[in-house]
Amino acid sequence: MKQISTDIVIVGAGLAGLYTALNIDSSKRIDVIVKESLIDTNSNLAQGGIAGELDFVRENLDAHIEDTMKAGSYLNNAEAVEILVTEAGDNIKRLMAFKVDFDRDNEGKILLTKEGGHSTRRILHSGGDSTGKDIMFALKQECYSRDNIHIHENMMAIDLIYSDNTCFGVSCLNKTNEIIDFIAKNTVLATGGIGNIYGSTTNSSVATADAIGMAFRAGVNIEKMEFIQFHPTAFHKGNGVHRQKFLISEAVRGEGAYLINSEKERFMNKYSDLLELAPRDKVSQAIYREMYDTWTDHVYLDTRHMSTNYLEKRFPTIFRTLKREGLTMGKDLISVSPVQHFNVGGIKVDVDGKTNMDCLYANGECASNGVHGANRLASNSLLECVVFGNRIAIDINKQITEKVNFDSKLTSFSSYQYNYKPIKKKLGTIMDEYVGIVRTKDGLNFAKNEVEKIESNLEKYPNNSKYYFEALNMVQTALLIINSAITRKESIGCHYRIN
Ligand code: SIN
Repeated sequence: MKQISTDIVIVGAGLAGLYTALNIDSSKRIDVIVKESLIDTNSNLAQGGIAGELDFVRENLDAHIEDTMKAGSYLNNAEAVEILVTEAGDNIKRLMAFKVDFDRDNEGKILLTKEGGHSTRRILHSGGDSTGKDIMFALKQECYSRDNIHIHENMMAIDLIYSDNTCFGVSCLNKTNEIIDFIAKNTVLATGGIGNIYGSTTNSSVATADAIGMAFRAGVNIEKMEFIQFHPTAFHKGNGVHRQKFLISEAVRGEGAYLINSEKERFMNKYSDLLELAPRDKVSQAIYREMYDTWTDHVYLDTRHMSTNYLEKRFPTIFRTLKREGLTMGKDLISVSPVQHFNVGGIKVDVDGKTNMDCLYANGECASNGVHGANRLASNSLLECVVFGNRIAIDINKQITEKVNFDSKLTSFSSYQYNYKPIKKKLGTIMDEYVGIVRTKDGLNFAKNEVEKIESNLEKYPNNSKYYFEALNMVQTALLIINSAITRKESIGCHYRIN
């Protein structure tokens, strides 16, 4: 076993991780743990954009606050929402200083779009529909230029190192399954989503609930796991064998696309005055109902009333991807269905990103600071990463750097080789079927029983491989979701129960 001593270890290299790293004083050593490569993150896949008011106009800020709270069914933490919205401008401007070029018109004015639940155009985007990729490219370049930031790719964090409710870093596995302990004064968890627990997701294949699993095993508080957001419009290719589904950004509806059912009728007027731009939970639930009523597994996104030239320019990535599938935006109907997209709850943190364990922070999708309530407003997720990443950095910058000495003990693993793939597949089937958009008491209890069996089987065969820890994180997090969903009996936001 090898030990590396550092000031801060950050687990995850999406926007939540890298933006935090870039705002910490450059006098401090930072080690960033990346499970695969720097491009394998959910942030990289974000299409629509980043919501935020650049100028401090109280009326506009209040409108963003109200849209966020309304989308979250007012279950949000009001203090966290106020911070999210009022600190948006400064952090988005800092992204620009890191050379992120948001799209502008011919006069150089920033172009803004709209998505579900937004009462006005306040979403900045880049490359049309490659906002996440462009932001992450700029931040990666900035990180490479900093001597104090050390990036470790192909390194999986497997467990927190802690004692007496204080975190001392994280144990990791390198590519050859050797254990490397990063001993740190502060640890930041930022591993993103949980999507691969489900059979279909818009998430990257690395999103296996790693931070939530590690935090859970260390007794860190986790909350609101029943709130799983389903994106209404993932591209539907029939019975696909791939878990990862291609996202068709909500911004396509923001620019005017309609939803129609298999009988070619527009239907959102039956469900919301906001039509196709209702918040995501309402749109996904409406699509589920239409699919059920018409005995199909998809609906259509209709852009036929829109200009093909405009759509190609405005959504180049989506346009190209659909073209490869033989579909032309502006001419053909696009089959879509809702799939898992975002974990609203997570590791409970305060407005400075602090967990209930000393020296342990969490940021981004794996964290729950209360901004999203019962359902996240579109394009508030990239914003959350920068606003709260900056606050974590401010908190860490206030502390005096001191070397931590901690003797971590080597965990013993069996060398048993086990194929964890069927476990993941089975888990996905159970979660899609019984812990999806519409939930019932019997379905949730059945899921609990089945997943508990998988968990006890899994715990009999531990080994020091990335695949084992991914499976463990996924199964333990699935149980957190199921247990929270059983406990919350009422329907609210993206937790919808029919009994
Ligand atoms: C989208 O572009 O529709 C996804 C953006 C988000 O999840 O906020």
